Amino acid sequence: MAAVFLYLVFSVALPAIIFIVHRSSRCRRLRLPPGSLGLPFVGETLQLISAYKTENPEPFIDERVNRFGSLFTTHVFGEPTVFSVDPETNRFILQNEGKLFECSYPGSISNLLGKHSLLLMKGNLHKKMHSLTTSFANSSNIRDHLLVDIDRLIRLNLDSWPDRVLLMEEAKKITFELTMKQLMSFDPCEWTESLRKEYVLVIEGFFSVPLPIFSPTYRRAIKARTKVAEALSLVVKQRRIESESGEKRKDMLGALLASDDHGGFSDEGIVDFLVALLVAGYETTSTSMTLAVKFLTETPLALVQIMEEHEQIRAKKGEGEALEWSDYKSMTFTQCVVNETLRIANIIGGIFRRTMTDINVQGYTIPKGWKVFASFRGVHLDHEHFKDARTFNPWRWQNNSGATYPANVFTPFGGGQRLCPGYELARVELSVFLHHLVTRFSWTPVEEDKLVFFPTTRTQKRYPINLQRRDRV
Ligand code: HEM
Ligand SMILES: *[C@@H]1O[C@H](CO)[C@@H](O)[C@H](O)[C@H]1NC(C)=O
Ligand SMILES: *[C@@H]1O[C@H](CO)[C@@H](O)[C@H](O)[C@H]1NC(C)=O
Ligand SMILES: *[C@@H]1O[C@H](CO)[C@@H](O)[C@H](O)[C@H]1NC(C)=O
Repeated sequence: MAAVFLYLVFSVALPAIIFIVHRSSRCRRLRLPPGSLGLPFVGETLQLISAYKTENPEPFIDERVNRFGSLFTTHVFGEPTVFSVDPETNRFILQNEGKLFECSYPGSISNLLGKHSLLLMKGNLHKKMHSLTTSFANSSNIRDHLLVDIDRLIRLNLDSWPDRVLLMEEAKKITFELTMKQLMSFDPCEWTESLRKEYVLVIEGFFSVPLPIFSPTYRRAIKARTKVAEALSLVVKQRRIESESGEKRKDMLGALLASDDHGGFSDEGIVDFLVALLVAGYETTSTSMTLAVKFLTETPLALVQIMEEHEQIRAKKGEGEALEWSDYKSMTFTQCVVNETLRIANIIGGIFRRTMTDINVQGYTIPKGWKVFASFRGVHLDHEHFKDARTFNPWRWQNNSGATYPANVFTPFGGGQRLCPGYELARVELSVFLHHLVTRFSWTPVEEDKLVFFPTTRTQKRYPINLQRRDRV
């Protein structure tokens, strides 16, 4: 607790004082969105942190939306921040990336990501690399190249499960193995397993903020990142040699090397890029796998329906025969389950941006240089946009020709120039995972370690389940 206090004093007090002085001069003339800046220095940071330890998924936002409406000002993590829980404003923020808003991460996060990561890139380079990544993960490439390994590696994992697993841990292992295959064509082996151990330490570093300087977890993460980067840079060197002798591979690294016609990418740059991709799909995809299972378990009718859908697919195939693209496309109810899971339980609750100029929205002004937070989950859980918004109801997506929900209301993958390049890949991985899970097992969760509605990553539970193997259809 002493460390928390010190951190707050050092990193929060100074900006807060500057802010208060500033506010009394310039901002008084501007009409800020309503809200409360909380205590001097700490603002409302402590309320934000403690709110997310409860079962209500959006307590911090709920309370303020009730008081101030869907656009409000608060003060968190050392800065005044405007929160938007309004679909129109969120769309405005996403569509004006690089013009009126830009992404901004604390230095502690940038150090872990690496400065050449896609998440930190801006301008034309970002455009080029974003589109390269999007092509790599697009549906034709998944259909023609990635699906066969997704299917195989998920089967391999599930077939080795004992009678009791920690589902979240298994989902993370699967996600890591899939990504290693997609990025660098590595099958799971001792080397990838030892890399994964280091990698897990890096990931823990992301959740050690806001206390980087005092946190042993963060220092350990930085060390582990160096080790991961060293291991990957050996791979990159090797692959450069192969590539120069004309050997092409159809993985992400291959795509990077092929697009590097003028030798513009340093090894360090490529490594940063790969690490960022490993990070971006990891917690996100594995959490949605786990939460999909949790919601299905709690909604027996949906579980029966999804089992039937997958048994029908299995019935048409031979023992152990791989899923094909047409099978994926026939999983219509599964897609409803996927959307509903992403709607309620997306681990990315929204996105932070910084204003590049004074912004006028809804009759208010957000001053230049301020932080904004576009809350996706807040919109997803708003009864105005989704009937019984806090109930898991996959059937709400049925009969949906895309017209049921406007595009700015359901945004689990963000939008605009930074739309998640992995949006289709994540859906496919989740669907294939559910296919093999429900056709192999029935399960019961272990009561004492129930996953909360929305697990904050720090207190995240591992969701142990007991498995019974089913007679194969
Ligand atoms: C359920 C799974 C996933 C969810 C919910 C998700 C969500 C998101 C969101 C909301 C963003 C936008 C961030 C922003 O605007 O600042 C994003 C960006 C990104 N995602 Fe995903 N993602 C998922 C899986 C994946 C996967 C599997 C990959 C692997 C290819 C991936 C790669 C990325 C990358 C590289 C970015 C940065 C894009 C940029 O800044 O241009 N994501 N993701
Ligand atoms: C996917 O990317 C490839 C390579 O850039 C491109 O040829 C193909 O048309 C894209 N497919 C879709 C469905 O966008
Ligand atoms: C799921 O959401 C996507 C938007 O992300 C939408 O295009 C798709 O139609 C939805 N699927 C179903 C089954 O409603
Ligand atoms: C979808 O359509 C079917 C048949 O047309 C109907 O029975 C069902 O109630 C509809 N579901 C929803 C959620 O509207």
